[in-house]
Amino acid sequence: MRVLFASSEAHPLIKTGGLADVSGSLPPAIAACGHDVRLILPAYASLREQGGWHSHGPLRLDGVRQEVHLLEGRMPDSGLPLYLIDAPEYFDRAGDPYRAPDGSDWPDNHLRFGLFSRAIAALAEGKAGLDWKPDLVHCNDWQTGLVAALLHDRPVRPASVFTIHNLAYQGLFPYSALQAIGLPDTLWHPHALEFYGQLSFIKGGLVFADRITTVSPTYAEEIRTPRFGYGLDGLLSYRADSLSGILNGIDDKAWDPGSDRYLDTPLDPRDPSAKRRCRAALCAETGLEDSSDAPPLLGFIGRLVEQKGIDLALDALERPLAEGRLRLVALGSGERRFELAMQALAHRFPGRVAVRIGYDEALAHAIEAGADAFLMPSRFEPCGLNQMYSLRYGTPPLAHRTGGLADTIVDATQDNLDAGTANGFLFDDTTAEALSEGLERLLALRTTPAWEKLIEVGSLTDFSWSRSALAYSNLYKSITCTETA
Ligand code: ADP
Ligand code: GLC
Repeated sequence: MRVLFASSEAHPLIKTGGLADVSGSLPPAIAACGHDVRLILPAYASLREQGGWHSHGPLRLDGVRQEVHLLEGRMPDSGLPLYLIDAPEYFDRAGDPYRAPDGSDWPDNHLRFGLFSRAIAALAEGKAGLDWKPDLVHCNDWQTGLVAALLHDRPVRPASVFTIHNLAYQGLFPYSALQAIGLPDTLWHPHALEFYGQLSFIKGGLVFADRITTVSPTYAEEIRTPRFGYGLDGLLSYRADSLSGILNGIDDKAWDPGSDRYLDTPLDPRDPSAKRRCRAALCAETGLEDSSDAPPLLGFIGRLVEQKGIDLALDALERPLAEGRLRLVALGSGERRFELAMQALAHRFPGRVAVRIGYDEALAHAIEAGADAFLMPSRFEPCGLNQMYSLRYGTPPLAHRTGGLADTIVDATQDNLDAGTANGFLFDDTTAEALSEGLERLLALRTTPAWEKLIEVGSLTDFSWSRSALAYSNLYKSITCTETA
């Protein structure tokens, strides 16, 4: 099948989070199942600057006065064909894909991703002047949510899949956005794009896509409940027959401890001396004290937002840090209040807590390799990638039992340890107390022979994309296309 994979970010070109990892590594895995997969992204400033793109000339979209061009190139690592929607007025800016350099959302995000979605729909309909037309469009998150809505009433259209990577981000805008984007009034309806008086981009995918997927089986269940559904649980339950959860894989070349290009020496997760070397390098880089009797080092990497349970971590870690039973290295950026609280913690425990605010790919790899254990107290986690990286790197995760964390981590209960299946630690309640209890279990097990077994089980688990890519491939084939050109 010819598949157009639409996303607002894709590693290694542009990344703010896990969506980019998935958009970079899933399409080649689907292509390996025998499909002709092509990616489409906005032509952000950093991509335009790279140059070398082939221009297909202007893309004409009804009622759009801006100049829009379709560029073509290839993805750096996988070599898959890549299309870029070049609308300089919207995408050639400093900042990240969604925010200005001061951290505030771009005020015209509805116009930016409205235009992106319209351009994707034009290409999908064969109106972009290409000699290639997809049989199926695979859209991801709210930024591409309108595509299925734009295509749904076309007499001839490709099939559509919409993947939810995070239901908390819905692309909600005032009613006025509907007309500003050039969407028909017929879409202003609770059974279409209206969501409690606002225009919802994500509903475009949830209402109109032929199939909806999300990135883990547990999250597929969770989002049908009020606690995780953000007001969309009713709609998702209504569409339950078309909704499934397919667990993300990881890029097992970029995240291979044996050949990680960011590590000075290869890491064999099962060799304690290799772990010690990586830990020493990490401590030297981040200014942490290190000695043979230093307490275990916990790692954290992620967006510093409510979702990630930063407040729970801050509460639960204070005491073991003060008692000298733990060290912490954290990397991330996000809400100012969490950044400040993290920095204050580092201030209180110099040499024991290192906090780096910002985005740093090399340090992320060094933390996965050098930490003794990895912390993910997320309130919800559609899939989560870091726990899979840490399992592979011999860094057992301690996480809240939710979403993809519940699907990838097997808690170190006595039963699971006896069965040889345990690979990490899970806690059930979203509280600092529950996290503390999990942490105490981790610290207790760390000094026993069971720890080595835990590492072995995690490091041998296959998190490559092959199985999940096949699941997507089968899903694509199962959709009755209105048209297969
Ligand atoms: P989410 O997509 O919700 O942010 P995931 O766990 O799916 O969470 O993916 C996050 C990805 O972004 C991982 O690859 C992680 O290593 C990376 N990442 C997050 N924050 C940073 C950071 N500050 N520096 C480097 N990499 C980061
Ligand atoms: C989202 C989710 C994360 C998931 C990622 C990739 O950002 O928060 O859990 O791993 O998308 O699917």
